[in-house]
Amino acid sequence: MKHSPRTFQAMKGHIPIAMLTAYICPVARALERAGIPVMLVGDTVGMVEMGFESTREVTIEHMIYHVGAVRRGAPDTHIIGDLPFNTDRDPDTALWHARRLIAAGADSVKLEGAKQDVIRHLVAHGIAVVGHTGLTPQTAKSFTKVGRTEQEAQQVLADALAIEEAGAFMLVLEHIPHALGARITGTLRIPTIGIGAGPDCDGQVLVINDALGLGDYWPPFSRQYAYASQTLEQVARAFAGEVAAKEFPDNIIRLAGKA
Ligand code: KIV
Ligand code: NA
Repeated sequence: MKHSPRTFQAMKGHIPIAMLTAYICPVARALERAGIPVMLVGDTVGMVEMGFESTREVTIEHMIYHVGAVRRGAPDTHIIGDLPFNTDRDPDTALWHARRLIAAGADSVKLEGAKQDVIRHLVAHGIAVVGHTGLTPQTAKSFTKVGRTEQEAQQVLADALAIEEAGAFMLVLEHIPHALGARITGTLRIPTIGIGAGPDCDGQVLVINDALGLGDYWPPFSRQYAYASQTLEQVARAFAGEVAAKEFPDNIIRLAGKA
């Protein structure tokens, strides 16, 4: 069953929502087989797949390429497409870019910050919107936790409420104190999805490359369930060793159909 804003709403407070990012077709295929209810084609693709220093280098064309690949791998899963930096600068510009992500295969779009006029405009034109507050990497000056003082916490809570009020159906909370994650989750009617926001959110999201151990740096709040970079290195060494030793390919055995 493909989830919708309505079914995610129904999960709030009952069934924790497990979201993973996905950028490529084979990964999307595996996540769909695993029953992951929602995939995020995040602009983190710029950092974890493309080697950029920040998410600000990511373009709408990059996102369209990756949304298409994920959709082809996961035809029956709700896919959120991230609006890249500056493509949501005003309501009409945001609508134009959101429609391109939807045309590429996204079911909904995500944007950073309490941009109420933008969110309202997208929702009024039939586009489902996911919000994102706390640490918002497109504009963040540092990657330290947000909302540690009471004044800052009040601002994050106010932004979360403004995003809900504008019509978003889900909200990503990034890198905030656990108590603030719990407070926002208890206050909002829409489901919250945390990344470094504590265990009390309605769901959790991880960057798939972080979860896979595919990379050289992982944020402290992520978790590695495998070490794919090590596996890749082992594969490359094994292959190179067999080529050097002329053990690969073994043409005679393959041609005889015995391998
Ligand atoms: O781009 C992304 O992957 C994200 C998540 C970290 C929430 O926005
Ligand atoms: Na993002």
